Order: sequence, then structure tokens, then C-alpha cells
Amino acid sequence: MQGRPRILESVGRLTATRLLYATPRVTRVLGIESSCDDTGAAVVDDCGNTLGDAIFSQGHIHRDTGGIVPPTAGKLHSEQLPRVVNEALRKSRTSLQDISAIAVTVGPGLALCLKSGLSFAKDFALKTSKPLVPIHHMEAHALTARMIHKIQFPFLVLLVSGGHTLLAIAHSVNEFSRLGSTLDDAVGEAFDKVSRMLRLHCHSEVGHLAGGPAIEELAKRGNADAFKMPLVLQQRRDCDFSFSGLKNAVRRVVIDEEKSSTPHEPVARCEDIAASFQKAAVRHLVKRTHRAILYCRDVEPDARTLVVSGGVASNSYLREELSIVARQFKFDVVCPPPRLCTDNGIMIAWNGVEKLKSGYNPIFDFTDLEYKPRWPLGKDISARVIQANIKATLTKRKQ
Ligand code: KG4
Ligand code: ZN
Repeated sequence: MQGRPRILESVGRLTATRLLYATPRVTRVLGIESSCDDTGAAVVDDCGNTLGDAIFSQGHIHRDTGGIVPPTAGKLHSEQLPRVVNEALRKSRTSLQDISAIAVTVGPGLALCLKSGLSFAKDFALKTSKPLVPIHHMEAHALTARMIHKIQFPFLVLLVSGGHTLLAIAHSVNEFSRLGSTLDDAVGEAFDKVSRMLRLHCHSEVGHLAGGPAIEELAKRGNADAFKMPLVLQQRRDCDFSFSGLKNAVRRVVIDEEKSSTPHEPVARCEDIAASFQKAAVRHLVKRTHRAILYCRDVEPDARTLVVSGGVASNSYLREELSIVARQFKFDVVCPPPRLCTDNGIMIAWNGVEKLKSGYNPIFDFTDLEYKPRWPLGKDISARVIQANIKATLTKRKQ
């Protein structure tokens, strides 16, 4: 019972009874993430403090196979989860008694990876008599920023990762409207594929980086106007994305540049190609976000924040370009720090905390709880965006 006087101690023969007002119980949630190639766990409290976290990234293992092999990824999650969860709990110095619930990602994501996480969480919850809070991975990405900044609902969110690219309005912890999403590749996937086409893993300076960061780093030294890239979905007044056309344009340039390239080395003029691709991809993201801001202003006039999250949100060029547009409409751009933008257990634990605070009843009888590899975020209102027929013209950047 919270806030009620309670008898705290009775000592020796003389029973000393002290009536104290018990402090309200602090909510602490253990979060478990395993939807893709990161095994993450964390303990977070209701003030947004990370008490302990641990992560095992499989990226280096899948890099050699040129992409994630789901059975391998699922097996690695099962192997790593006990260690990662124990490490997060140990670092948090929290006894299991003080954990209110276990939040676990149940979708969307790779089926075999979600399966490993959920089956571990169920076993662990049974052993420790804890309830579960099923978490939507993208909702967790969207709400991470609220852990650090005081962001009020409603707000606009752009999620850009290796598996997703979407724009949504967050109305509350449990209510989202999806304005648009990608029709083909996710933007992070496009960065990764372009990096592979350019053979950046052979690059002496950026070879150790993942695809996206390697492109960003190399683009700093290139001429972004060196190669003409197509304007994407130019005729459509929606908030959907597409990256396959850009990827194909890069492929054509690479085929051309291969003539003057050395085998097993990065493709000739890779700096210029990286810069041209990045500029075009960011222009596309910014244009769609511009339209989303205009739409959001109409339907949710109180919205004043654009949250950008997911792995690609670490890209400084994207952040800068988004800020220019957001500023025009007096929107603040908030990006969680890079370590919270990529997949981790903290965002899952925090989402569990937010759900509990919003009145969600955690599940004690979770035998029938299933993972959902395909689980769209919120309500699809993309048709309404098209109906609004909003022209978004980007203002020219001062040179
Ligand atoms: O959110 P995330 O860690 O994992 C999921 O996809 O769920 O995002 C990883 C993606 C990768 O495709 C990676 O190349 C991309 O984010 N990424 C970047 C940057 N940092 C990470 N893309 C562009 N620029 C970056 N600086
Ligand atoms: Zn993610």
C-alpha cells in the first residue's frame, strides 16, 4: 500500500513501534531486447535512471556472412541472454525482489530472434514469479527520448533504422498514428548495401565501421554533387519512403567506376559516391519529414517536438538538415544519444516503466503470449496524409 502509515519494526522485549509513512514503491523494470542482432538487457527505474545495462552485439559475426542469418542470430541470443541479463542485474545492484516486471520485445523483428528473447523472458519470469510487459520495438524506439528530455505528448517521430523507416505521431504511451513508412528498403539497410557495393570493409580508415557510419565518415571527404542521384517519389504527396531507386542509381555509378578500380580495394571515387548517396537519401528523409510536420500541425496543433531515433539518427548530416526544416516551424528536434538510438535493453525497460505508469496491467498468465514478427506501429493514417495533399517545398540552404 502506498503512502499509508505502517508498522516498520519491533525490537526486543520492549516493543518499539514506529509509525512511518512508507515512501511510495519505486518501479524498477528489467528490459530484454533480442529483435535483431543485439542482445540487450537493462534495469531502469520510474525516474528514467538506468541502474544497470549490458549488451552483446552480433554485428561483427554477421559482417563476414554479408548479412544477418536468422538461425545463427536466434541461437546466439539464446546463448547470450543468461549472461547479458545477469550482468545487467548485477550492475544495477537491484535484488530480484525489487523488480516490478520484466519488459520484453515481442515484435516486430526476426522471428527466430524474438522467439529466443520471449522464451527466455517467460522462463525467467516463471522462476522469479514476475509478470511480463510485452513491448513493441518501434514504440520503444519512439519513446526513449522521454527518458532524457521532458517531451510532452503529442509529438512527431521519425524512426530510421536498419529494419524500419517511418513517420508517426505519438499521441500517448499507447497510441500512435503512422503517417508513412518505407515501400522497400529501410534507410539503414540502404546505407549498409551501398557500403558493401563500395567495398568499404576493405577501406584502411573506415573498414572497421558499420555500413552507415562508414558512409557518413567517407562522405565528409567527398563531393556530394559529383554524381546525379534521382529525386525519390517526387510526384507523391505522402510520407512514404523508398530507397531502392537510389540504391540502383549507386549500382550504376559503381559499375562505371569499377573500370578504374582495383579489385579487393574500395571502389574508385568512393568518397564522392558516398557523399552523393548520403545527400540524396537525407534529402528524401527531410522532405517527407517536412510534409509530416505540416500535417501534424493541422491535426495536433500542440505538437512542438520532432523525435528522431533508430540507428541512422546518429548521422550528424541528417540531424543538421532536419533541424533546419524543424526550426522553420518552431519544432525542437530531439535525438537520444547514439547509444540509445541503436537497439538496447534500456529502451525496452523504459517502455515497460512508461506502460506501467500509464496504468497497464502486466501479464501474470503469459503462457499464450506470442511474438509478432510483423507488427505495424499504431494506426495507419497514410491515406489521410495523401488526402491532405500537402506540398512540401524545401527551402534552399544558404551556402
Ligand atoms: O536501430 P539499429 O541499431 O538497428 C536496427 O536496425 O534495428 O540501426 C542500425 C542501422 C544500420 O543499418 C546502420 O548502418 C545504421 O543504423 N547507422 C547509420 C549510422 N549509424 C548507424 N546510418 C547512417 N549514418 C550513421 N551514422
Ligand atoms: Zn531497432
